[in-house]
This record gives sequence, structure tokens and C-alpha cells, in this order.
Amino acid sequence: MAAAPRAFVLRHTRLRPVPGLEQIRLHLADEVLPLWHAVQLETDDPDAALPYWAFAWAGGLAIARHLAAHPEAVAGRRVFDLASGSGLCAIAALRAGASVATASDIDGLAVAAIGLNARANARRVTVVRRDVLDDEPPSADVILAGDCWYDGRLAARVMPWLRRARERGIDVLVGDPGRRYLPTDELVELARYEVRTTTELEDLEQKQARVFAVGPGA
Ligand SMILES: C[S@@+](CC[C@H](N)C(=O)[O-])C[C@H]1O[C@@H](n2cnc3c(N)ncnc32)[C@H](O)[C@@H]1O
Repeated sequence: MAAAPRAFVLRHTRLRPVPGLEQIRLHLADEVLPLWHAVQLETDDPDAALPYWAFAWAGGLAIARHLAAHPEAVAGRRVFDLASGSGLCAIAALRAGASVATASDIDGLAVAAIGLNARANARRVTVVRRDVLDDEPPSADVILAGDCWYDGRLAARVMPWLRRARERGIDVLVGDPGRRYLPTDELVELARYEVRTTTELEDLEQKQARVFAVGPGA
């Protein structure tokens, strides 16, 4: 992990327990806009992505809660966390007994945050900084996709990729709080969780988020 992104993450976040999942600690921020501005200055890029990695998103929180309640979904299995952000789902999978966890994200600061968060939870997460959606699905037993349906262009690419993974026998768990682009007709609902987030990100501090499987016929 490069030192500068890691130092940036440490400077702008505080290590603290995840609401509702107190055994997991993440480097999290309180406010999104000042941090986004700091990212724009740090990267010298006015179009820099939002600092997704500094928050635990409702979809990821639902998956993490689900894995705590149903460790058998990942225990002893190889897990791939798509669009990992903070690394929350990968860390939750390892806590539930996954044999290995790989996290992917396109944001270099997310890569730094995932490394720091994995270390803070004494877990080993392999991190891939690449847009894997143009690749074939990975060698994994389970793919976790937390909160990937907030953007139409991303959503349009995620579902076909997850469907291909499912066709190859990979289990797919989706976590989502009802984002606009989620194609619920293609998914099988497994559970609902009340998750605590922040009004920095959502309209309410408490959201209902659902966990779905991508069904065999999706
Ligand atoms: C809303 S956050 C969700 C993070 C995490 N899964 C969670 O639920 O807390 C979405 C993440 O997707 C990442 N992302 C966007 N496009 C991506 C792509 N094509 N491949 C991998 N990650 C991507 C963003 O950088 C961001 O970290």
C-alpha cells in the first residue's frame, strides 16, 4: 500500500466500531462534503469520486449483518467483495469464517482504506484495484455486492456480470437499501435488516436494507 493514500485516510477518519456490528472497526468519517473537498485537493482532480470508502453503506451493512447471522453462507469459502469501499463486506466474510477474501475497488483511496481496515480487524484481505466488470467473473465461491445500484451506468454493468458469475455456479449476495437502479425482479430476497447509517449519506439515520441472492434463473 502506498504511504500517501494511507496517510490521507488516517488523517481524515477515525477508527471506530460499525453501528450494529460493534465487533468490526473501520476508519470512518463524519462528514462527506469537507472530505470530498479534501480528496479533490489531494488528488488535484475536481472530478474526484466521492469518498465512498470513508462510510459503511446501507447495502454493505445489510450483507455484514447477514453474514454474522448466517456464517454458513461463506464459512470455508473463497469470497470476492465487489466495489468494496471500506472493505466492510470482505472483513465481515472473514469474521464469518471465509477461507480467503478478495476486495475490489477502482478508487486508490478505497484500496488504502481497505488495507487499513483489514489490519485494524486483524484480517488479511487481498485488494484488487481494477474495474473487474470487464473481466470474466473471478475464481471465487461467493461474490458480495453491497450498495452497487446508486448509479445507472454502474448498475447496468453490475447485473450482467453477477448473472454470468451465477451461471458459473458462484453464489451471489446483494445488499441494497432500495436504490433506484436495483432490478429487484431479478433477485430473490433472503432477509431484511434495520441498519444505522448517517444523514450525511441517506435521508434517514435508520434504513431498511435487504439482502438478496441472484437466483439461478436470473
Ligand atoms: C456506495 S459504495 C459501497 C461500498 C461498500 N460495498 C459498502 O456497501 O459499504 C460503492 C463503491 O463502488 C466502487 N466502484 C464504483 N465503480 C466500480 C467498479 N466498476 N468496480 C469496482 N468498484 C467500483 C466505488 O469506488 C465505491 O467504493
